[in-house]
This record gives sequence, C-alpha cells and structure tokens, in this order.
Amino acid sequence: MANIIDGKAVSEIIKSEIKIEVATFDIKPKLVVVLVGNDKASEVYVRTKEKSCLEVGILSETIRLDENTKEAELISVIDRLNKDKTVTAILCQLPLPRHINEHNILLAIAPKKDVDCFHPINVGLLVSGNSYVEPCTPKGCIELLHRYNIGIEGRHAVIVGRSNIVGKPLAHLLLQNNATVTIAHSKTRNLKEICRNADLLCAALGIAGFIKGDYVKEGSVILDIGINRTSDGKLKGDVEFDECQHASYITPVPKGVGPMTIAMLMKNTFIMHKANMNK
Ligand code: GUN
Repeated sequence: MANIIDGKAVSEIIKSEIKIEVATFDIKPKLVVVLVGNDKASEVYVRTKEKSCLEVGILSETIRLDENTKEAELISVIDRLNKDKTVTAILCQLPLPRHINEHNILLAIAPKKDVDCFHPINVGLLVSGNSYVEPCTPKGCIELLHRYNIGIEGRHAVIVGRSNIVGKPLAHLLLQNNATVTIAHSKTRNLKEICRNADLLCAALGIAGFIKGDYVKEGSVILDIGINRTSDGKLKGDVEFDECQHASYITPVPKGVGPMTIAMLMKNTFIMHKANMNK
C-alpha cells in the first residue's frame, strides 16, 4: 500500500503556525475575495477561504457581484481595493463569466496585492525565481513534498496539465527545486509511457480517474491535483486512487492538495502583509 500524504493534517499545522504569528500583529492582514456570478464550486471555495481566514486571524471580506456584471464595473471594484490601504491581498475567483476577459482582470489587480501571483509582472518574477509569493496550489504541492521529506532534486517530474493556475507555475517551482520537468497535456503522444517514466507524477488535467494504475511506476510519488465532482455528488481526483497503490506516496482527494491551496493562500496573505508593513 502507498503511504497517504495527509494534506489536511499538514494544512492544519501550517494554519496554526500562521495564527501564532498573526496574533502578534497590531494591524491584521486583510484578504478580499471577489466572486462574480453563481459558479457552485467557486461558492464552496470562497466559503472555505472565509472560514480559514477566521481560523488564523486574517480579516476577510467577500465581494459578491452579479453574473451580469460588466468588465468595467469589475475593474472599478478592483481599482478601489488597490487603493484601499486596509486591504493586503486581492483574489478574484476564477473562472469568470464568459463575457469578462480574464486577462484584463488579472492585469487590473495591483501586483503587490496579487495573492494568486497571476499578474503578468508576478508571473515574470516567478519564472525568473524572484517572486515573493507563488500560486497557491503549486506552492501547496511543493510544501507537502518538503514536509514529508520527499526529495525533488534530480527526480523526473511529469505534470499532466498545462494551465496557468497549476501546470505551468508548478513546472517552474519544481525546476527551482532541481527536478527534471516534463509537461504533458491533452495533445501529448505516448502519454502513458511518459507518465510511467515519472518519479513524481502530478495530475492536473481535471478529468476524474484519468490516471490509471498502468500509468504509474512502482515506488513513484503521486500528487493528485484534480478536484472533480462525480454524478453522485462526491469529489474525485484525476487519479484512480485504488489502482495506484504501488506508488510509494499518494495524495488522496479530498484531503490532499486541496486544503494545502487554502493554507498557502493564508500564507501568501501573511507574507504580503509583512512585506508591506516593512515599507
Ligand atoms: N479558481 C480555481 N483555483 C483558483 C485559484 O487558485 N485562484 C483563483 N483566483 N481562482 C481559482
């Protein structure tokens, strides 16, 4: 049986570490989440974010905007938050309704308040290894590996999925940790063979159970970054968990990478608050 990487437990430890430090601040960090529309999954994520802020002592505000909000209106909300000195960090929940251009919105968030590290300036800093925060989900993956003392250096990491939120930034963070990185995606040929070559297999393609047992090398490490809802309402990852027990370590879904994303959001808000405080 593979060892299960308990992301929930690690996330609780990280949040309690943050809570202790935040308690020493006279001025508390504040995270503002902007949610446009009625996406069910986003609504759940946003509530979890609010709850975590409360747990660690970070002030939180959620701005809920109607599905039909115009792009210009959303940008003016973001402008106001950019100028508000009480706001440490801004997160605009993705996906946005189709009529809003995501790139324009990510550009509108002031880089120093961009807790996701999605602004092009911050993406550039990430790629050159100079960012002071990193995208939450990839950062959570690296943190999990570190906390379990799983070596990254020299290992072949295969990432399945090339999104701006997970696949691409994860590749950079793994490179910075001296992994040899392959990014595979829906057009990749011989995907199974490439995955079978991985020492560290990171599944981030968003298809429930796509990675089967025969995609996985004996003794490898699997990070399942997919969160898919099945027809019976349960959460299922991108990996067929039961078939992959010949791995040495595996993250479950739920309670794997998911809770780490939230813990890293708390950590990024905290880091940004400290950076601004020292100015
Ligand atoms: N939607 C899914 N994941 C994320 C994330 O990490 N940040 C934002 N802003 N939206 C998301």
